[in-house]
Formats: sequence, structure tokens, C-alpha cells
Amino acid sequence: MNHFHYLAGEMHCESVALSRIAADVGTPTYVYSSATIERHATVFRDAVKDCGCGNSLVAYAVKANTTGALLKLIADCGLGADIVSGGELIRARRAGIPADKIVYSGVGKNLDEMELALREGIYQFNFESEEEAEMLSRVATRLGMEARVAFRVNPDVEAGTHAKISTGGATDKFGIPAHRIIPAYRRAMELPGLKVQGIAVHIGSQLTDLEPLRLAYQELGRMIAELRAEEVPIQVADLGGGLGVPYVAGDPSPPSPEDYGRMVAEVTAGWDVRLVFEPGRVIVGNAGVLLTRVMLVKEGQPDPFVVVDAGMNDLMRPAMYDAWHDVFAVRQQSRRRRSSIVGPVCESSDVLAKSRDVEEAHEGDLLAIMTAGAYGAVMASNYNSRGRPAEVLVRGGEYAVIRERETLDDVVRNEVAEPVWTGEQR
Ligand code: LLP
Repeated sequence: MNHFHYLAGEMHCESVALSRIAADVGTPTYVYSSATIERHATVFRDAVKDCGCGNSLVAYAVKANTTGALLKLIADCGLGADIVSGGELIRARRAGIPADKIVYSGVGKNLDEMELALREGIYQFNFESEEEAEMLSRVATRLGMEARVAFRVNPDVEAGTHAKISTGGATDKFGIPAHRIIPAYRRAMELPGLKVQGIAVHIGSQLTDLEPLRLAYQELGRMIAELRAEEVPIQVADLGGGLGVPYVAGDPSPPSPEDYGRMVAEVTAGWDVRLVFEPGRVIVGNAGVLLTRVMLVKEGQPDPFVVVDAGMNDLMRPAMYDAWHDVFAVRQQSRRRRSSIVGPVCESSDVLAKSRDVEEAHEGDLLAIMTAGAYGAVMASNYNSRGRPAEVLVRGGEYAVIRERETLDDVVRNEVAEPVWTGEQR
């Protein structure tokens, strides 16, 4: 469900024509629908609100899209944040997300980041190794503070998604394996400055089948029982994120948040814990498109190349994960032509859609690359000295630029024109 639709043959976001945004702001530009984000946040929250003890924390995985105005919108919907860096922590706090709704994941949190998160008073640190427990204990002791902590277990399940976005297999770097869980908790309970409260799991992203999640959660349930038998006071179970979204219009395969909520309620019945969820993609994925203009159409083998002004630096997913994004003409066309939609970047992998049956495109046409709200703008780079795209948020009949397009001055800002040498002169 999203708010991108055709009115009189022209794609609109809510009530704003995408052509108007292109004319005013230029291209490439990410365009987000606030109504879609609000709807997804509400639907997800409602779907899980009665699971566990009934006071579930929905902590939006900030990494999916970190733009400030968008985070603020999500904060206003009452969601917390799942963060993976000090930068994300500061962004979440600036957006008004209360510290006691923030959980901190990630395999490498440095000492400064730990200190910052401790001082802010976040809800929970999710350790991904025994070493992190030792490090945080030292930081907390030095500051005379206490950190609420959990370990992330690696349940060794096949997530059934793309290998590059699977995180719960035995050879993935995330979490710690089940056989190390009990000793890890025993040690953490001895360490000063730590208050053991929870356990966490996250097995991957863009999951379109609930079974791997069910298996992982069942494993988590077994572990909670084992830990409690060892007198480890588990009160919180963080079930991670990962729920997939449709990337092909009308694809019915991703389970709805309601299906997901029912499965969770079933598996976690009797756990007697507060549940935490870390959804990212399902909140923002379908709420954004990348708006781009056709620069030229050149003949090619086997199909013509439609060269657009958005490239792999703007939207990395097709090049990195062979990801599919639907591409639609902003002004609907009746003629179709098999074509490859490519960016201007000097890489063969700069292909946004390969040999697709799409509406026939001509120089100057606008195209919308769909489902680009999650892991789109956040993964953009300056490769080929391209400024990152502008971002626009739509609300009803109005829109606002929420991130200016980067200029070349922005791109070179941190470069030093005249090197200042340090060290012994020979
Ligand atoms: N929690 C943890 C610990 C995570 O690592 C992630 C995503 C999430 C939650 C949120 O997962 P979601 O609900 O969004 O699936 N760049 C890739 C996706 C990487 C996901 C990384 N971790 C892509 O474009 O598909």
C-alpha cells in the first residue's frame, strides 16, 4: 500500500504531480509520501501491540532511511529507533526519539559511541560478541553508570533472502552462536556496570516467508527458558526486523504486518517478556521513489539503452544485490519497448533495470524508480564526483525539500587543496 498513483495519466505522490517536483527541484530526486510512512508505522505498531507483555517497543531501524525530517515524522508516530552508530544515535535524538526507546545493534561499537549511548541513557545495548561486554563494562565503570544489555544470538537459520542481506547463518559475522550464549551471560552478570535484561535476534532483510523467522524465534524461546533456568533475568526479547515488501507491483508474496504479528503472538505466547521490533524496510520502502529524467535513448544490444540521470551512486541496490525495482513512466505511455534503464556512471553494473518490458521512453521523459524509500538515499555516494540527490517529502497537496541536492562544493568540501605535511623532514 502506498500513495503513488496516476491521476489523469500522470503519476502523483499523494496530490502532488511528480512532474511539478521535477520542474521545481530537478532530478534525480527521492520523493517520499508522508501518508504512506504514517500508515506503515501505525499498521506495524497495531499488528504487534498485543504480543508479549503488550507494551511492545517498535524501534524503527534508522539505517533504512536517516533523513532528519523523515525520522521526525517516524518519531511523531511514536516509534523508537534501532541504531548502529553514534551518528544514528544523534540523528534519532535530534528527531525527538526518546532515549528510552532506543536500542543499539551492530558488531563494532567503539568506546566513544558506547560512552555517548550510555550518557544518553538508551534502552538497551545489543552485544554481538563477548568482547563488547568487556568493553562496555569498562566504559560504564569509568563513568559510574549502568548499561542495560542483551546478547544477539546467531540462530544459524537460512533466511531465504539474498546472501548479502542474510545475517543469521553460522558463517555470518553477526551475533554469537547458541553454544556460547550461557557462558556469555554468566560472564556479563559478573561484570560491573552491566545490567542483563534481554536477548536479541535478527536473521536478515527482505524476508518474504515467515518460516525462517518462526524458526529463529522458536530457538530464541528455547534459549530464554535455558537462561532463566540459569537464573539469568531475561525480561526483553528483541525480534529484529526483516519483514519484506513487494518490489513488483501487486506481488502478494510478502506477508503483511498482521500475518507477522499473528505468528509472533503464537510463538511468543507465555514468554512473559517485553518484545522489541526493529522494522526498517517495511516502514519506508514503499513510501519513496527515485525520480529521474531520461537523458537520451541509444541503440544497444540486445535492447536499447535508456540513459537516465540517476545512477548506481544514487541507488545502489540493483548493482549490489541484483535488486528489482519497478520503473514506470511519470506520464503514462501506451507503447511499450523492451529496454535497459542505465545510469551515467562509468561501470557496467550501473544498470537500474535490465532488458525490461517498460513503457517506451524518450529524451526528456520522467521515470519513477519505485520502492526506493529504504536503503536508497542512505546508500548514495559521490562516485564519479556526482552530488547526492535531493530529497522531497510530500504531505497531501504540499511538498518540502528535506535534503538539498549536493553541489560540487559540497562534494569536495573536506578535501585539502594544499597538503599540510606532518612529520620529520628528511
Ligand atoms: N535490525 C538489524 C540488527 C539489522 O541489521 C537490520 C538491517 C534491521 C533491523 C532492519 O531490517 P529491515 O526491517 O529493514 O529488513 N542494504 C540492504 C539491506 C541491509 C539490511 C541491514 N540490516 C538492502 O538494500 O536490501
